Amino acid sequence: MDRWVGKVALVTGASVGIGNSIARKLAEHGIKVVACARNKQQLDELAAAVNGKGEIFPYQCDVKDEKQIIGMFDFIRNKFGTIHVCVNNAGLGHQAQILSGSTEEWREMFDVNVIGLCIGCRESVKLMRESGVDDGHVININSMSGHRILGLPLYSATKFAVTALSEGLRKELNEAKTHIRCTSISPGLVETQFAPRLNKDTTGEKDYYSSIKCLQAEDIADAVLFALQAPSHVDVNEIMIRPTEQSF
Ligand SMILES: NC(=O)c1ccc[n+]([C@@H]2O[C@H](COP(=O)([O-])OP(=O)(O)OC[C@H]3O[C@@H](n4cnc5c(N)ncnc54)[C@H](OP(=O)(O)O)[C@@H]3O)[C@@H](O)[C@H]2O)c1
Repeated sequence: MDRWVGKVALVTGASVGIGNSIARKLAEHGIKVVACARNKQQLDELAAAVNGKGEIFPYQCDVKDEKQIIGMFDFIRNKFGTIHVCVNNAGLGHQAQILSGSTEEWREMFDVNVIGLCIGCRESVKLMRESGVDDGHVININSMSGHRILGLPLYSATKFAVTALSEGLRKELNEAKTHIRCTSISPGLVETQFAPRLNKDTTGEKDYYSSIKCLQAEDIADAVLFALQAPSHVDVNEIMIRPTEQSF
């Protein structure tokens, strides 16, 4: 990871869960991390927790709102003049089916998981290229639900979109003759607040994850490090990572 020391990364959805662990791990490897989410208090707690072992810059941003995302990239441009790594992690699921789901919940999933991610891709690559960064890295946190359909078709649709967008971005970066790399990471079950939020119950998160030994957020952060530390001529495009005990 030596070549990333002192470089600048953005991690979206860093207040809890996978993004929190990625932000922490990148900071501990000497990367300056802009950590964004809606919950500023949790971001401040993250910054305090890594204090001394790395640098975290909390930034409150709702990625449903393009103006807020653009404002965040202006903050990064003004403070650092550049960006090297963008981890599009913010995401959510709703139990909103095709026949019975609410349009509002469908829209929120697409706004965060797809449109917010696209804006993150576009704005980060724009800032990389205008600041002469040719070896940057965009990492999209996808899902196994982006490769096969279980019981959440709308959530799956957003993640299938992430599969298509990650491959599309790889091709656009190649056609533009940059060496910026793009990695999609597709986890199976990870023990975070995702399931309790999905099921609108933030009190019993352990219960949702007790059937098998789940992945931990740190396992996904390790996959991010794996992709980043590959030699610059190696573009790790897709990582699927399931708990050993997960059958689906
Ligand atoms: N957990 C799993 O089993 C699993 C499996 C496969 C893929 N994933 C994917 O992994 C990613 C992270 O999920 P997680 O498991 O860590 O879930 P989580 O614990 O619920 O964390 C989700 C993160 O996304 C942020 N977020 C949600 N809506 C946002 C918005 N409008 N603006 C900014 N940030 C927002 C949340 O922050 P605030 O609420 O503070 O805004 C939080 O930091 C998601 O893309 C998810 O689809 C998860």
